[in-house]
Amino acid sequence: MFTWPIVTKEMEDSVLEVLRAGKMSDIDVTQRFEEGFARWHGVKYALAHNNGTSAIHSAMFGLGIGYGDEVICPSITYWASCLPVYSLGGTVVFADIDPETLCIDPDDIEHRITEKTKAIIVVHYTGMPADMDAIAEIAQRHRLKIIEDVSHAHGALYKGKLVGTMSDVACFSIMSGKSLAAGEGGMLITNDRRIYERAIIFGHYERHSSAIQLEDLKAGAGLPWGGYKYRMHQLTSAVGVIQLRKYREEMEEIDGAMNYFWDQLEETRGIRAHRPSKGSRTTKGGWYSPLGFYRSEELGGLSIDRFCEAVRAEGAPVSPGCNLPLHLHPVFNTTDIYGQGKPTRIANLPPGVDIRQTPGSLPVSESIGEKVFSVPWFKHRRSKVIDEYVAAFRKVSENYKDLLPGDTKGEQVARSWGLSSRLRRQ
Ligand SMILES: Cc1ncc(COP(=O)(O)O)c(C=O)c1O
Repeated sequence: MFTWPIVTKEMEDSVLEVLRAGKMSDIDVTQRFEEGFARWHGVKYALAHNNGTSAIHSAMFGLGIGYGDEVICPSITYWASCLPVYSLGGTVVFADIDPETLCIDPDDIEHRITEKTKAIIVVHYTGMPADMDAIAEIAQRHRLKIIEDVSHAHGALYKGKLVGTMSDVACFSIMSGKSLAAGEGGMLITNDRRIYERAIIFGHYERHSSAIQLEDLKAGAGLPWGGYKYRMHQLTSAVGVIQLRKYREEMEEIDGAMNYFWDQLEETRGIRAHRPSKGSRTTKGGWYSPLGFYRSEELGGLSIDRFCEAVRAEGAPVSPGCNLPLHLHPVFNTTDIYGQGKPTRIANLPPGVDIRQTPGSLPVSESIGEKVFSVPWFKHRRSKVIDEYVAAFRKVSENYKDLLPGDTKGEQVARSWGLSSRLRRQ
């Protein structure tokens, strides 16, 4: 039910072919993977990277984000959505999340825009598409760029449109824990030739002679401007080309399984699905790291830790929380990474300008960890097995009163800055 990715003979053969031909560092298989990825999204360009983090870094450079610039990013996400901006001399302003989608709240963006704001980073968090119409409207009005971080939402639809196609540039992690899993790897897609070429000039020196056409970039071609080498390992590409062929089918299966699970639990007291409303033509793609909402008030104030502990005792892998709010981490407050004598977050801003965000400034992000929990990420729609997990949740919900005494002694599960440690426990 949980093994991922699903490794087929075709995939093994694809990897072995690259290995035996000694082509791990070439780019021919990677280019086939890129073509397939671009075709799937109906975009002109796809550029493979050695991970999702480097794809985001290149996207930022591609947009021309640099010294003293600001990007707006949700506080609840994996650090790679925004942290690469530091090494470009830029910084990040965090926005709060919408408590229903768990993605950036469009109503919390506009007042954070300054003269230095260059882009809004949108994360389709744990597969749920963000409210792109509202975000695009703000971006258009303020002439801002949008970066979509699609690392959690491969193949998801927003009102019938594929996520990753509603921005200037979109990035995907395809590391092996993600729903489209190829190994360490990332993908950048765009329709903008300048973004594409700037991403190439930044960290893909091996393509300079064939791909750089823009005159202003040509002069410096040959060496990577970022000083980075972001080429995808071709064993990843070999997995990727096969994944592309079978992912959509696998995604349908997961979507069916997860919706079946939540349909059974619809009336269960204390818990709610984190999923798009039915009939909205919005979907969660591969449901990466799925979450549920916890309503402690419906269960006599039972703590989320105690609730999850009891569900785990019934055999279902669940844990409370999600990513911790980034704006509270020292790296976004006090850490002086580059020895500038100031916290890096504000080091390149004009003197006296301080954009750091104190505890209490993003209330939804700061409290969401007590209101969401992970649910099993089913990869197959096997109703009999799923029913057993459903029974575990129902049993705990129905018997919550038995759990109230001694609740304070509930196991405190350590929250983490990433989601992967939790997935490993499944
Ligand atoms: C939202 C998000 N963005 C970016 C990344 C970075 O991707 P990678 O781990 O492939 O570098 C991740 C990875 O976990 C992620 O969850």
